[in-house]
Amino acid sequence: MAKSSEVSGFYKLLPKERLSIVKDFAGLTEEEIKLLENTGSLPMDVADHMVENVIGVFPEPLGVAVNFQVNGKDYLIPMATEEPSVIAAASHAAKIVRDGGGFRTSSTTPIMIGQIQVVKLKDAEAAKEQVLSAKAEILKKANDQDPVLNSFGGGAKDLDARVIETTMGQMLIVHLYVDCRDAMGANAVNTMAEAVAPMIEQLTGGHVYLRIISNLAVKRLAKAWCTIPKEALGGEAVVDGIAYASAFAAADPYRAATHNKGAMNGIVAVVLATGNDHRAIEAGAHAYAALNGKYTIISKWTKNKNGDLDGEIELPMAVGLIGGAVKTHPIAHIAMKILNVKSANEFAEVLAAVGLAQNLAALRALANEGIQRGHMSLHARNIAVIAGAKGDIVDKVASQMVKERKVRVDRAKEIIEKLKIEEF
Ligand code: MEV
Repeated sequence: MAKSSEVSGFYKLLPKERLSIVKDFAGLTEEEIKLLENTGSLPMDVADHMVENVIGVFPEPLGVAVNFQVNGKDYLIPMATEEPSVIAAASHAAKIVRDGGGFRTSSTTPIMIGQIQVVKLKDAEAAKEQVLSAKAEILKKANDQDPVLNSFGGGAKDLDARVIETTMGQMLIVHLYVDCRDAMGANAVNTMAEAVAPMIEQLTGGHVYLRIISNLAVKRLAKAWCTIPKEALGGEAVVDGIAYASAFAAADPYRAATHNKGAMNGIVAVVLATGNDHRAIEAGAHAYAALNGKYTIISKWTKNKNGDLDGEIELPMAVGLIGGAVKTHPIAHIAMKILNVKSANEFAEVLAAVGLAQNLAALRALANEGIQRGHMSLHARNIAVIAGAKGDIVDKVASQMVKERKVRVDRAKEIIEKLKIEEF
């Protein structure tokens, strides 16, 4: 008989009770249960308060990228990622950029947008004027929701309204602009958007459905740029290769998606390590890349008049130092301490620099020998571990597979057996 996934009151159970249900459903072994129960540095009760229906934790490797210098300040960059070579590549690119003077950065005021959707309007343009003329009142109502944010100089600063055409007729979309200071801001903005909705309904005679933050945070941008002498890259041919790669991605959305993914490899790893919302950052980056109607790149590389390489990146960066898992997750807390940023703006700018470094590392490899050789040796270590290698056997098996260009679990197993026999 097929097993049922309908479990009433699952959320009310203790993690170990949930685990026993999952064990029966999925046929987990005792060994697997032990792995799930061993939550290491994220205690089960903390995890159980972070999300729902917890049965364990999901560990990811946490590494530190070195060599970063941003606006003259040195940083160690905590990164959580499952992808081999990301941390090494970031460190390597940061070293090259450092030798060329390091990263420079800037950022806007940390303003997030709250959207309020008004429908069923008799006259959408007139409704827009009504909202705009009540701006002060609406902003006051929004700011009444968050005296703490106000006391730090943040809060709802402005609003705007647009009439849009949709498949269900005209809608009035009101944007609340909220300075979130050192918070990511989703909670503050959503609370404000919900609080002003009845007022907006009354003013317009329409009906409000959605009241929610926009992840396309065009008013909370971070920018990083750098110049790298051609000698540091191995000559003008490499500069050309990277500039050609960038031009390709700028013109072609198929390549742009991968180009941007390369930059996001670094950014997301840091955002994840620090307990911030990496989905918000991903959504914002890709939407920003398509803002002009055609998906393109968030970072670009060009050859300057000296034949050196200029690079820059700009993207929305809604990250915070407070709220969410930043404080509750003990490792995120430590990651923040390692990163040692004093404001959400500084954090956002360092993230932009990490994205630029990660993008540079990928393009440099792609424009040269390709990424497979570097990737393969790291990937080979993973395969060796999967095949059962332990301790110093891992590197022996990995390098043998890379030499043979046969990075496969079956081959790893053969090499392990052979090494065991030789040692015996
Ligand atoms: C792999 O995770 C990322 C790259 O594909 C990025 C790129 O192609 O620029 C190497």
